[in-house]
Amino acid sequence: MAFKVTILIITTTFLSFISSTCSQQITIVDSTDCSNRWIHIRNIPPRYNLDLLTNCSEYPLFDNYCPYLANHGLGQKTHNRSHSWYRTDPFLLELIFHRRVLEYPCLTPDPDTADAIYLPYYAGIDALRYLYGPDVNVSVDHGADLFDFLQIDEPRIWDRNMGHDHFLVMARPAWDFSQPVDSDPPTWGTSFLELPEFFNVTALVPEARAWPWQEHAVPYPTSFHPSNLAFFDSWIQRVKRSRRNTLMVFAGGGGVAATPNIRRSIRNECESNSSSDIVVINRGYSRVCEIVDCSNGICEHDPVRFMRPMLGASFCMQPPGDTPTRRSTFDGILAGCIPVFFEEQSAKAQYGWHLPEDEYGEFAVFIPKEDVVFKGLSIVDVLMGIPRGQVRRMREKVIDLIPRVMYRKHGSSMGLRTKKDAFDIAIKGTLQKIKSRIDRLLDQ
Ligand SMILES: *[C@@H]1O[C@H](CO)[C@@H](O)[C@H](O)[C@H]1NC(C)=O
Ligand SMILES: *[C@@H]1O[C@H](CO)[C@@H](O)[C@H](O)[C@H]1NC(C)=O
Ligand SMILES: *[C@@H]1O[C@H](CO)[C@@H](O)[C@H](O)[C@H]1NC(C)=O
Ligand SMILES: *[C@@H]1O[C@H](CO)[C@@H](O)[C@H](O)[C@H]1NC(C)=O
Ligand SMILES: *[C@@H]1O[C@H](CO)[C@@H](O)[C@H](O)[C@H]1NC(C)=O
Repeated sequence: MAFKVTILIITTTFLSFISSTCSQQITIVDSTDCSNRWIHIRNIPPRYNLDLLTNCSEYPLFDNYCPYLANHGLGQKTHNRSHSWYRTDPFLLELIFHRRVLEYPCLTPDPDTADAIYLPYYAGIDALRYLYGPDVNVSVDHGADLFDFLQIDEPRIWDRNMGHDHFLVMARPAWDFSQPVDSDPPTWGTSFLELPEFFNVTALVPEARAWPWQEHAVPYPTSFHPSNLAFFDSWIQRVKRSRRNTLMVFAGGGGVAATPNIRRSIRNECESNSSSDIVVINRGYSRVCEIVDCSNGICEHDPVRFMRPMLGASFCMQPPGDTPTRRSTFDGILAGCIPVFFEEQSAKAQYGWHLPEDEYGEFAVFIPKEDVVFKGLSIVDVLMGIPRGQVRRMREKVIDLIPRVMYRKHGSSMGLRTKKDAFDIAIKGTLQKIKSRIDRLLDQ
């Protein structure tokens, strides 16, 4: 009971903060140039966002996510003396994003002058009742009620650009919202992204579908959320100084069944000794490989379990699992650990705004999974074939990417705001995407 009360207090604080900020609608007039960057926050009833959080313990098949709501979705600090590390659950990106939009410098109360309209709908959280709850048999309806609201309440806001200027965050892989509307019996997912009603709306998701569609991928949140430049810089120094005694690390689960797959191949290579191990040791590493067992979600809210090994390794394995992408890609970058990808869908085809597509050769290694699983290509051999100087340059490039993939804490210092973080880059990309859609619309 005591637990539930705490959560309600957290929720209420969040609520009162949001309502006070919204009612004032302060537009911060500083030196920021807001032309082409104005955002209007669409006013929607709390049943589409904050009210949903009161049911945070109602979905045992998913998880009780009440503990992760603290700090506007960043979660609780990992320990009392921590400045920048939180027990962040990536599914709460909708809250994290909402809180950050509230301090975006170019908000306007006037939808007519806005370049983009933000829908503060917690789509992924609302999806839980369709995915794991009482509405599992009507999952094609996800979004229908919201669409009706948007048509009835101040319809001119939608009509102005037929929804092409609206955007929202959906903190689950797009796959979870892509159930065909006519699938009978219902398959996994809701049909939100398959409803023609929402085709014009830009959705920011941690993983997009393989073909170009209305969604765009943004980084999964990690556990690192610094609030000022000093905390940020001290982490960067730690990453740069870290001694990397291990060649490669894999933090994750899976690969234990007999069926051949890339996770199993990684495990096999880590668990067996081969002649190339001698070469690795001669290169100054004290071990070839480390596996951090993250099965059953034990690592998810406990970043120290995987950050420490990643800080001590040169390369981080980022194999696909149930879906091609993983949060671990961003944890690894944060640790200055060079990502090793096994399919293009894991990152290159996803995060074009945040990880420059034409520079992958400079900060990542790509090894096609088929070559490893079916042709016996050794990952260790590939990594050992990269000259030391190149490994050092790649690591420097990875470290340069850190600000781009982190979500800094809300209310952070002006100094840190000069670093464009994952949120800033997502907003910039969204504004450009919306502008090009509307330009195309005007051309017709
Ligand atoms: C919370 O869950 C209860 C029981 O399933 C449901 O009746 C209620 O509508 C839910 N509230 C929200 C805001 O979803
Ligand atoms: C952290 O601080 C809170 C409040 O000051 C205290 O109740 C709690 O025991 C502390 N936890 C630890 C692990 O020190
Ligand atoms: C959904 O439909 C299936 C098959 O008709 C049924 O067995 C199940 O009880 C339904 N679930 C809910 C929550 O209504
Ligand atoms: C989406 O935009 C197209 C024009 O590009 C328009 O014909 C259609 O009606 C719009 N859909 C909705 C639901 O507004
Ligand atoms: C691999 O090498 C280590 C260290 O030399 C040794 O302790 C271990 O038993 C070896 N394992 C196998 C499977 O040969």
